[in-house]
Amino acid sequence: MQLIDGKATAAAIKAEIAQEVEARKNAGLKVPHLAAILVGHDGGSETYVANKVKACADCGFKSTLIRLESTYEAPLDPNVLMAEIDKLNNDPDVDGFIVQLPLPKHIDEQAVIEAILPEKDVDGFHPVNVGRQSVGLPCFHSATPAGIVELLRRYGISTAGKRVVIVGRSNIVGKPLAAMLMQKGAQADATVTVCHSHTPDLPSIMRQADILVAALGRPGFVTADMVADGAVVIDVGTTRVPDASRKSGFRLSGDVDFENVAPKCSAITPVPGGVGPMTIVSLMLNTLQAAKNRD
Ligand code: GUN
Repeated sequence: MQLIDGKATAAAIKAEIAQEVEARKNAGLKVPHLAAILVGHDGGSETYVANKVKACADCGFKSTLIRLESTYEAPLDPNVLMAEIDKLNNDPDVDGFIVQLPLPKHIDEQAVIEAILPEKDVDGFHPVNVGRQSVGLPCFHSATPAGIVELLRRYGISTAGKRVVIVGRSNIVGKPLAAMLMQKGAQADATVTVCHSHTPDLPSIMRQADILVAALGRPGFVTADMVADGAVVIDVGTTRVPDASRKSGFRLSGDVDFENVAPKCSAITPVPGGVGPMTIVSLMLNTLQAAKNRD
């Protein structure tokens, strides 16, 4: 069984990006600039955004964090968020930006996503980028699927002709990953099945997978009996579960029962240190691409 080390792979890619940024500077080109809008103080979102800001520093990018308060007593006026998006859309120094999700319930998430200019949408969530991706045109790919594809590529795991089963049909992981892997070409050409809460006899489909992707957000859902001998298992889950032995009071749990599944696999990603760091590095690659597109 091979452990797929997303942390080390992400570090190597960040070093490659930093070199490219240095070369850009030497050529008199602009340093990529990523902005992030964070609404409220959701614990998970705080961590993700802090990691994104740190990754920008590692890559030599400029970053800007815009915090907007929203509480139960004083919910954020959605127009204030839209005005910030408008400013970033029109700021010539900003190459790309993200609005960290989830947003408070009273804000229409889809309207927010659609307010971002597609050419600055480095999350790849805007319908223009989603649509371009689905027909195989150049676009910003959603970060988690792009990170998974790059991780497989760097570990020499081909997807061509393989049966890939994705458990979870979210707009940011399951659907875009399926679209990427069913395209023609390198690191694609897979036969993809997307399963979800209405899929009958899920374990029997999961057992057919050469590559099994768990992206449903249920800690430990994937047990050894659901995995074929020799399968590659990619765990996208990052649920915070209470853990009194940790200073933070929680630990991150993947969707896979790692201890019992790992011995059956040819390769598997851990949580933490698997897909998570690759998601962030994909955002950095998209931001670098956004800067290049604007050169
Ligand atoms: N929330 C969870 N994952 C993501 C992501 O990739 N981008 C944004 N903007 N929010 C998220």
